[in-house]
Amino acid sequence: MSKKNEFIQSVKGTRDLLPGETPLWQRVEEEARKVFAAYNFREIRTPILEQTALFARSVGTDTDIVTKEMYTFQDRDNESLTLRPEATASVVRAYIEHGLYNEGGIHKLYYFGPMFRRERPQKGRYRQFYQIGAEVLGSDHPAIDAEVLEMLMLLLERLGLKELKLLINSVGCSKCRSEYLKKLRHALEGVKAQLCADCQRRAHTNPLRVLDCKVEADQPIIEKLPHILDHLCPECRQHFDCVTSELDERGIAYEIVPRLVRGLDYYTRTTFEITSGALGAQNALLGGGRYDGLSEMLGGPPAPGIGFAIGQDRLVLTVEESAALELKAPLAVYVAWMGEAAQEPAGRLARQLRREGISAEVSFQPMKLKKSMGIANKLQARHTVIIGEEEVATGQYQLKDMETGEQKAVDAIQLVASIKEKLGEPVRAAGEPSAQ
Ligand code: HAM
Repeated sequence: MSKKNEFIQSVKGTRDLLPGETPLWQRVEEEARKVFAAYNFREIRTPILEQTALFARSVGTDTDIVTKEMYTFQDRDNESLTLRPEATASVVRAYIEHGLYNEGGIHKLYYFGPMFRRERPQKGRYRQFYQIGAEVLGSDHPAIDAEVLEMLMLLLERLGLKELKLLINSVGCSKCRSEYLKKLRHALEGVKAQLCADCQRRAHTNPLRVLDCKVEADQPIIEKLPHILDHLCPECRQHFDCVTSELDERGIAYEIVPRLVRGLDYYTRTTFEITSGALGAQNALLGGGRYDGLSEMLGGPPAPGIGFAIGQDRLVLTVEESAALELKAPLAVYVAWMGEAAQEPAGRLARQLRREGISAEVSFQPMKLKKSMGIANKLQARHTVIIGEEEVATGQYQLKDMETGEQKAVDAIQLVASIKEKLGEPVRAAGEPSAQ
């Protein structure tokens, strides 16, 4: 319990995103919305709270997420609830609950939002983190897999990211995987004793998870285990070959990684990850894959699906490090006024700019020009308008471009047009009604 008056800090592994950081988050979201819309994806918003059984059944009871990382609690009526650790299960639940499948065709959905996993916090790993995700429900066509990856690559390119690696694999279907699991179990029997304690447990509970192990000493042994790619049934093999040739056709480079099984149990066939060199230990920028049986597992009709989730925290970190994205100045105009007679015209001008959708700030207090310019700099204003008594008398305001230092005298109408032009917005033709 905290003592009275003691400062109460944020919860470990959670963080505040302060106004200095949020413009980049918004910019990334804006770009994602544009790219998703271009591919005809529509937004879905599902609750953060779900019944615990939803994740147990889909993500899997033997996964790290479900066994160790979920924020689960008994509600007052004893129902077991969980703060969502991921959103694919929620999207499929919503798809079933609202009978979206009755509309027929393919559903392309995207989401943004916080997820919760009780992991050990470090750079790029938080207990409350954010995902930008997309899911396609209603088709198992390999071209969809390639289209989803194409969309992802376009988004990352728009964000100026380079040096990314697309890793891809197929984990087969329930039929070929059960055959493969027999072989894997058998192979593990011989080497199990040499593996870490977690892997010894996984060898019994969920042998596929052994392939995910990151313990250095285990790697040479795991490398020699049978590969799932060598044990795909003819249908899954053909599906995978089609996905890779569709990627080749689109000029998308990839690396086939037979150990890429991912940490969630619902995957079938295609699985993928994109890693970024800029991220260090937590280098998975995003992960995804197919989950053709998930709808049935959750009590719905057959509805093949594929999707991905980008770790937004990691995406923002990578974008920041690459410094390829230019952000707009936080403030378009600072209105600096001097002398009592200038206060009212300055207020009117700020009001006009704001009504035109141009961000503007104006002081309530009279002050010297030097101090006003200091504030304009601190606010990182793109322009400053200077209004003194002389400007009031002539109706000609001084407009200063804070980037180039260029200054010119303009009247109020020219001023709005000139600022709009510089900000790259359409300029209203003279004579059109203004919002004033
Ligand atoms: P996931 O691989 O568990 O997949 O998570 C996707 C991404 O979320 C990761 O690649 C990583 O960037 C980010 N992430 C995961 N945990 C954390 C954390 N503790 N802190 C910061 N970032 C994290 C899924 O969640 C699947 N639902 C993806 C999917 C969608 N598959 C099909 N559709």
